[in-house]
Amino acid sequence: MLLRAQNVSRSFGALLALSGASLDVTEGEIVGLIGPNGAGKSTFFNCVAGDLTPTGGNILFNDVDVTRATPEAHAKLGIGRTFQVPATFVELSILENVMVGAFLRHPDRNDARAAALEVIEFTGLKAVASAPARTLGTPGRKRLEIARVLATQPKLLLLDEALAGLTPSEVQDAIALVRRIHAKGITIVIVEHIMEVILTLAQRVLVFNQGVTIATGTPREVVDNTAVIEAYLGRRHARNAGAHAP
Ligand SMILES: Nc1ncnc2c1ncn2[C@@H]1O[C@H](COP(=O)(O)OP(=O)(O)O)[C@@H](O)[C@H]1O
Ligand SMILES: [Mg+2]
Repeated sequence: MLLRAQNVSRSFGALLALSGASLDVTEGEIVGLIGPNGAGKSTFFNCVAGDLTPTGGNILFNDVDVTRATPEAHAKLGIGRTFQVPATFVELSILENVMVGAFLRHPDRNDARAAALEVIEFTGLKAVASAPARTLGTPGRKRLEIARVLATQPKLLLLDEALAGLTPSEVQDAIALVRRIHAKGITIVIVEHIMEVILTLAQRVLVFNQGVTIATGTPREVVDNTAVIEAYLGRRHARNAGAHAP
């Protein structure tokens, strides 16, 4: 098992944002994680990536207990995550932003640059590599956010609404990119509101609501699940899977 998150909880003062979420991920899987706003999806990613320490439960990555490890230790072990709000250095060039990720495994600047250039090429950012990141629109920023994480050479990639705000044709391009990332052998957990993305990419889906898992199954099982429909999707999606969630 690549990731074993058991009964993970996290509270913020009196608010229990996550109350006992469990997820096992096998190497090579693409797992979808869905749920309404505030369900605890990003909090779960924050815990798995070490950006937040869980208040309960434990997280094993490749049998190593990472529950209380730093974000850097998580990254070194091979857990990479995108941020819902891209963590872009707007005044740096696109290449330099990707180098920030590459430095994790390549302390030498030239090595980091070479590694970053490979990722830039892979993610289709080559034509704009030397432009300041602030010149990118939404799709470019989303792509750069993915590129920065890929440059850390993750084994497990957590995508937190990395496709949000894209037009339908940009979404198709992004789906193709996710498939190419997966084809490199990277295991993926993807949080996405666009049901089409989840239905297309995920082999297995987990549904969060108010900090707990309310359903798991194949994408088809999940869209047909009454509790999910009520909590999140709206009735029309039971008949019309593939449409965009609210
Ligand atoms: N750093 C934080 N401090 C206080 N409350 C937070 C923090 N992060 C998230 N929350 C709260 O935890 C709950 C879950 O949020 P989040 O994990 O971002 O949900 P989702 O990603 O599913 O939309 C929400 O009620 C949110 O307001
Ligand atoms: Mg979120």
